[in-house]
Amino acid sequence: MLQQKTAAYEAIETLRREGRFQSCSGNPVQLETATDRFIADMRRIQSEAAWKLGGIYLIAEIIQSVHRTDAGELMDDPSLPLDQKLRMSRALGRQSGMLQLTERFVDLLSPIITELAERNGRDTRVLELAGGAGSLSLALGRAARNGRLPCRVTGTDIVDTYTKAAQEEASQEGLPAEFHTLDACRMDKLERGSADLVVISQSLHHFSPGQLALMIRGAKEAGSSAFIGLDGYRSLLLSAGVPLVAAMQGIWEFALDGLTSARKFYTEPELDAISEIATTERNHLVLTRWPLTLVLVRFDGIRASEASLPYA
Ligand SMILES: C[S@@+](CC[C@H](N)C(=O)[O-])C[C@H]1O[C@@H](n2cnc3c(N)ncnc32)[C@H](O)[C@@H]1O
Repeated sequence: MLQQKTAAYEAIETLRREGRFQSCSGNPVQLETATDRFIADMRRIQSEAAWKLGGIYLIAEIIQSVHRTDAGELMDDPSLPLDQKLRMSRALGRQSGMLQLTERFVDLLSPIITELAERNGRDTRVLELAGGAGSLSLALGRAARNGRLPCRVTGTDIVDTYTKAAQEEASQEGLPAEFHTLDACRMDKLERGSADLVVISQSLHHFSPGQLALMIRGAKEAGSSAFIGLDGYRSLLLSAGVPLVAAMQGIWEFALDGLTSARKFYTEPELDAISEIATTERNHLVLTRWPLTLVLVRFDGIRASEASLPYA
């Protein structure tokens, strides 16, 4: 219901017809501003379209408009003590493990990691953005150490405390994974060619549309072959489910962040539009892998295909 795909694609087509769907090839500031403006316009036109369509579309739009929030998560609050941030980030990693999401992320990424390794004749260099305390990068590192996956992993986050904690775990376990601090919107800081595959999981909603466009553009300009983003599927079910499951960790700030996050998940048409604006072409897929939405963008000329993303 919260995806509003009929009204959303009507909005995208209206903006395209009016020449306002500008695939923006300008500088980073222009890209960020143009993408933010596009998504704001899209949401407004989508709402008008839903009012015109009436009935179930209108009911969905009313629920959608009450449901959406721009509030930030507590874990991103700079005034929150770092030990509490780390506690919340570890709680998220634990939760993903309990729900077997981390294993599922590894399974979803395995085919493309293997495909790139076979093509390049070496381990695939995976760069994770906004990786928190490192649960996914550590899991990929374990799969690599056990010979299950041909990859080397670099986990990054903007919070130094997370990357240091993750590095300690990786070193203790002897994993082929290293961790650094990196602003996900500043991939120009990376050495070109240092990543074959850029991934981000459970974090897309922490970024504005313009920041997501910068991230996708950054992955392309850093010379990677593909970008994969995974996040919660925007739905009423997850709006109830995410905070409820988070509450099981017994950290109220974490449960509240669960609710805020579910209210901020992007719709699939929005992620589709953001990917097109960032790349100035349509070589991407936005797929539902319940309870997730998955974005695959390819930069290496190979057609983005479902074949590289199994129903794991
Ligand atoms: C919901 S957490 C997800 C962490 C991790 N991916 C996981 O699933 O456990 C969102 C993460 O985004 C990070 N983050 C927020 N803004 C960022 C930025 N500009 N650059 C890099 N990381 C950022 C936060 O520090 C936080 O660790």
